[in-house]
Amino acid sequence: MAHTVPPTIGWSHDDGGSVRMIDQTRLPGEPVMLDCRDVECVARAIERLSVRGAPAIGCAAALGMALAAHRSKAADPHAMLADLRAARERLAATRPTAVNLFWALGEMDRVIDERAADGVDALREALLARAEAIVEDDLQRCIAMGHHALELIPPGANILTHCNAGALATAGYGTALGVIRAAHEAGRGVHVWVDETRPLLQGARLTAWELRTEGIPATLICDNVAGWVIARGEVDCVVVGSDRIAANGDVANKIGTYTVAVLAARHDVPFYVAAPVSTIDYDLASGDLIPIEERSRNEVAMLGHRASAPVCPDIAIYNPAFDVTPHELVAAIITEKGVARPPYDESLAAMKNRQDSSRPREESGRGGPN
Ligand code: MRU
Repeated sequence: MAHTVPPTIGWSHDDGGSVRMIDQTRLPGEPVMLDCRDVECVARAIERLSVRGAPAIGCAAALGMALAAHRSKAADPHAMLADLRAARERLAATRPTAVNLFWALGEMDRVIDERAADGVDALREALLARAEAIVEDDLQRCIAMGHHALELIPPGANILTHCNAGALATAGYGTALGVIRAAHEAGRGVHVWVDETRPLLQGARLTAWELRTEGIPATLICDNVAGWVIARGEVDCVVVGSDRIAANGDVANKIGTYTVAVLAARHDVPFYVAAPVSTIDYDLASGDLIPIEERSRNEVAMLGHRASAPVCPDIAIYNPAFDVTPHELVAAIITEKGVARPPYDESLAAMKNRQDSSRPREESGRGGPN
């Protein structure tokens, strides 16, 4: 089928090179593209969620490093390394939870180590080539995840999802929404319950928009309706994405995911997580160690320009962007290398070295740019 979700993020050769992304803060209105011509613009785009979702943040960081090299006026590698160090530091300070950001910066570090001695032009080209490969690989990984997940999604399944783990959150196709897309494309006749996902409404603004754009049957619900539809037997499985998965299978994802996982367990509904292996942080033994971003009080206290809570004098507000679902509640983790089952310390460790099975599938189409 035709996918009409516009490109999430990519390199543009206009104006001597820029990072072009769909500005997700403007959705579900008409898609507006944002062109970043310097690293500060990319960093701010990550911070204010113009580009968001763990894999897309990783792509933005990689392209941001390529942009820093392109914009650097340095004539020798030594001077360029100083510019690249400053860019890296700025990008690494944007958002703490999604490990894909740090994974992508690590990939760019490797290119710098290997190619700096070849001169500034070679280094520029090598950084751009690696960044574009990261974007392309991400798309292929999502398609592979969708393929592997088909074994888990029965015909006619009602699937509940939280936040947006779609084409917009990746280089295209999506992780959790990639699983849903693949099932839809395979003719499984699925229907999606979309949690609106307070406070920033990624479910309502982005997931509902993607599903509507692509003609996948879906119903939008307030977050506090999830328990009711699960209790009434109207949900066959939950599929969500992740920002970071610890080595033991504990899963950080958008705030509210843990609540859904507990509800699913209460009613024997399988809770699945879809994420590329780059989302697994093998250095963290458990989810207790995952840094959780806290965001501005205004995201909770304001609805647009209107106060939705007492602001004078201010009510105390706690606004964590993510929570951690313990591995006991996770029925399976779908990666581009296959489906991992408990015990996760063993199955995820095995994924690390397994041959990458991500590959283009002609019949799958593409949910994104490349
Ligand atoms: O704050 P966000 O919108 O970046 O949070 C995104 C999520 O929590 C997604 O579910 C996660 O990054 C997986 S995206 C494939």
